[in-house]
Amino acid sequence: MFFRKVALATLACASIAQAQNACNQKTTNIQSDGDVQKLASCSTVKGDIIVGEDVTQFQLAEVQGIEGDLVIEKATGLTSIDMPKVRFINGNFKLTGLTILNTLSAPQLGKVGSIEWVTLPALQSLTFTRTVTEADDVLISDTQLGSLEGLNLKTVGTFDINNNKQLRNVDLQLQNVTKALRIEFNKFGGKSVQVNLPNLETVQNATFRDAQSVSVPSLYRVDNSIAFVNNTFESLSLPNLTDVGESIAWVSNSKLTNISAPILEDVGGTFQIANNTKLTNVDGFPELKTVGGAVDMAGTFENATLSSLEDVRGGFNFQTTSKFDCAEFETLKDDQVIKGDDFVCAGDKDVAESKDGSTSTVGGKNGNGSGAAGLVVNGGLLVATFMAAVAFL
Ligand SMILES: *[C@@H]1O[C@H](CO)[C@@H](O)[C@H](O)[C@H]1NC(C)=O
Ligand SMILES: *[C@@H]1O[C@H](CO)[C@@H](O)[C@H](O)[C@H]1NC(C)=O
Ligand SMILES: *[C@@H]1O[C@H](CO)[C@@H](O)[C@H](O)[C@H]1NC(C)=O
Ligand SMILES: *[C@@H]1O[C@H](CO)[C@@H](O)[C@H](O)[C@H]1NC(C)=O
Ligand SMILES: *[C@@H]1O[C@H](CO)[C@@H](O)[C@H](O)[C@H]1NC(C)=O
Ligand SMILES: *[C@@H]1O[C@H](CO)[C@@H](O)[C@H](O)[C@H]1NC(C)=O
Ligand SMILES: *[C@@H]1O[C@H](CO)[C@@H](O)[C@H](O)[C@H]1NC(C)=O
Ligand SMILES: *[C@@H]1O[C@H](CO)[C@@H](O)[C@H](O)[C@H]1NC(C)=O
Repeated sequence: MFFRKVALATLACASIAQAQNACNQKTTNIQSDGDVQKLASCSTVKGDIIVGEDVTQFQLAEVQGIEGDLVIEKATGLTSIDMPKVRFINGNFKLTGLTILNTLSAPQLGKVGSIEWVTLPALQSLTFTRTVTEADDVLISDTQLGSLEGLNLKTVGTFDINNNKQLRNVDLQLQNVTKALRIEFNKFGGKSVQVNLPNLETVQNATFRDAQSVSVPSLYRVDNSIAFVNNTFESLSLPNLTDVGESIAWVSNSKLTNISAPILEDVGGTFQIANNTKLTNVDGFPELKTVGGAVDMAGTFENATLSSLEDVRGGFNFQTTSKFDCAEFETLKDDQVIKGDDFVCAGDKDVAESKDGSTSTVGGKNGNGSGAAGLVVNGGLLVATFMAAVAFL
């Protein structure tokens, strides 16, 4: 009797120990659906969970938190991830190449170290009833998500949302982006994304590409650079923006007719407006005083004024395919407001060329676009712009 009890107790201890042991591993490699069970009853998983290609079901019934990473890669037979009680993942929550994953349910998840979700072509929505409010970096690429509902971060390092063909709304309460904000290539069949960031105050770098609208009413400071490329909005307003550390650029926004940044005073690097073929009138910068780099404008401008300019440390390039009276800009050169040696102001051009080589053409007047490659490549725009500023000084 006694021995039997001891034996049972030992057995019980052993299985608890084994279970705890599974929960406390530095790294748990999950190779099969059976392996998932080893973790399912842990309350907290102390280390990383790495899930292999053959797993088809991933349910962590009792787990409330993962202190390390959760990485699931190339599990092409996996349809659902179900983590009913998980409240935090302190490490990287990485999902890549999960071709039939259609359910990502983590209703209690509030805090994630970083999110990296790439190539999830069947994922159309997130089941998050609580919203994720903390994450250092977020990358969501190549999914079928229609919205980012369930993510509600205030401060984030990098926030990169690209190539999500069904994404129609990016509506977030973001306040500060301490590294880069990139919203690019989220479009399909003439439909693209509407970006609404009502509380965004500061960003280090930002690129908006292929958006149907961008609303950033509270943005007041860009530490480095901001660029708007190939968007389809007609109007863009930056009502609260006062300073940009490096460059600001609007390039190839084919429907843009109105830009305004009524209180923008300082741009540390290049101020560029290029190849926005419908933008005939530029008068939305009444307070712009200082440009630390070059002013670079190429397009179809009929009227353009930068009436408060006091100091341009780089050169000045203004080219338009329309008739244009250069008197205002020539005065700026004569008065040495423009300090760089390069000065161009030319109207009636066949091809209006910007300094980084990207050309702006209208109607039948076609440039060969040799400079465009620099703009199309990821991140190429900012580099090209920055190089243009240096070359131009
Ligand atoms: C965002 O940045 C501003 C200025 O640095 C700061 O006042 C504000 O508290 C920050 N917001 C958050 C949520 O960190
Ligand atoms: C921000 O842009 C600058 C160039 O303007 C670049 O040097 C820097 O690496 C970028 N930072 C991030 C986090 O992308
Ligand atoms: C504009 O920016 C200032 C800080 O410079 C801030 O106090 C104000 O609330 C902002 N306005 C809007 C509409 O966000
Ligand atoms: C100019 O913008 C148009 C879109 O309006 C685009 O198709 C073309 O490639 C752009 N050209 C260059 C040189 O960037
Ligand atoms: C351009 O946009 C600004 C801000 O939205 C607006 O105040 C202004 O009236 C617009 N200009 C034209 C010509 O539509
Ligand atoms: C440009 O300015 C002239 C003279 O101020 C004005 O007659 C014309 O309508 C303006 N053109 C545009 C496109 O605003
Ligand atoms: C494009 O323009 C550049 C500079 O004018 C020229 O050297 C090049 O040969 C042109 N390429 C084509 C394909 O027309
Ligand atoms: C703009 O989009 C068009 C059509 O998708 C593409 O061909 C072109 O290369 C893009 N241009 C830039 C500067 O990204």
